[in-house]
Amino acid sequence: MKMKRLAKTLLGATLAVSMLAGCTSGTTPAADSGTTDTATTTTTTTTDTGSTDTGSTDTGSTDTSTPDPNVGEGKKVGVSMPTKDLQRWNQDGANMEKELKAAGYDVDLQYAANDVQQQLSQIENMIAGGCDVLVIAAIEGSSLGEALDMAKENEIPVIAYDRLLMNSDAVSYYATFDNYKVGTVQGTYVKEQLDLDNAAGPFNIEFTAGDPGDNNAGYFFNGAYDVLKEYIESGKLVVVSGQKTFEEVATPTWATDKAQSRAENIIGSFYANTDIDVWLCSNDSTALGVENALANNYTGKYPIITGQDCDIENTKNMIAGKQSMSVFKDTRTLASQVVKMTGQILSGTTVDVNDTSTYNNGVITVPSFLCEPVFADANNYKEILIDSGYYTEDQLK
Ligand code: BGC
Repeated sequence: MKMKRLAKTLLGATLAVSMLAGCTSGTTPAADSGTTDTATTTTTTTTDTGSTDTGSTDTGSTDTSTPDPNVGEGKKVGVSMPTKDLQRWNQDGANMEKELKAAGYDVDLQYAANDVQQQLSQIENMIAGGCDVLVIAAIEGSSLGEALDMAKENEIPVIAYDRLLMNSDAVSYYATFDNYKVGTVQGTYVKEQLDLDNAAGPFNIEFTAGDPGDNNAGYFFNGAYDVLKEYIESGKLVVVSGQKTFEEVATPTWATDKAQSRAENIIGSFYANTDIDVWLCSNDSTALGVENALANNYTGKYPIITGQDCDIENTKNMIAGKQSMSVFKDTRTLASQVVKMTGQILSGTTVDVNDTSTYNNGVITVPSFLCEPVFADANNYKEILIDSGYYTEDQLK
């Protein structure tokens, strides 16, 4: 196999914090989530793939290095996506491919059908095929060690896309949305809708979280739970099923059918004659499962339901009153950011990051760029989804 000889300096690129339009650093309030508020910290640091240190602090400067416009010529980027089953990854993959091609790169885009072995071999083939940078959205953050070791041996920089790659020092950068904040947006919505500080209650609530193999899932759940915890402890919110730890409410592979069958069991066992006030779902694919279960099995008052992603089916459900809110994460913003970081890495210029303390993968703290999630509901979807060109009106009919 052709050994890459990308100059060490590419991986040792100087990092700088930049606050770009539409993207901010982590503003994660709770201490017990393991996250840190870095909103006002500007950090300049030098790192390489083996570094465990996020560097020194240098408040005040902003750097938005622009890569050489021809940086893509003759370079190849491997883009590994988890699955075509969920709408968002199709959009992410398509946006990445479009933007990379527009910047002159060759692109090897692969989807792994939620099969970890398949993702491993796809990445190994990308490396064997001579890609210069790898962009990976993992199915399971901890299962790609062999491929990451191979990337490191070949000196190929790796960007973790949306989901952190765990337990490896071969991860150069991470680009995502502020995952903890997604959860706080959901939790705060519930708190405000029920007016938890003033209303007498009690209100009944259930939780449905994401895939335990996805590092993001815990951040979403903790973000929401941390807002609601005090009301659960005081008895104003009652989890009638008693299932309130992440492990109990998780949904393997974020699958709609698994979320649906768990919800059907809960409805059958606990809500035959009792109203559900809230079903806090971490994302749209799981919310859809809960909405299906409610349509099939439940006759009580329709609950508040949260989501994330503004998938088409869920946006239609918001318009129809079957889902209360979602959290919009513009995949175009994330793709643009990753393409920019790819160019910065390859041209050896400063790589934009805005968080160097939150995302420890068990081995290193990975310099990260966090984009900003946006609250969405039936009142603002036109502005954020249609006026911005994300969807056409016809797609939502
Ligand atoms: C993403 C979410 C998505 C979920 C399921 C997470 O890693 O951040 O946007 O809903 O995976 O695909």
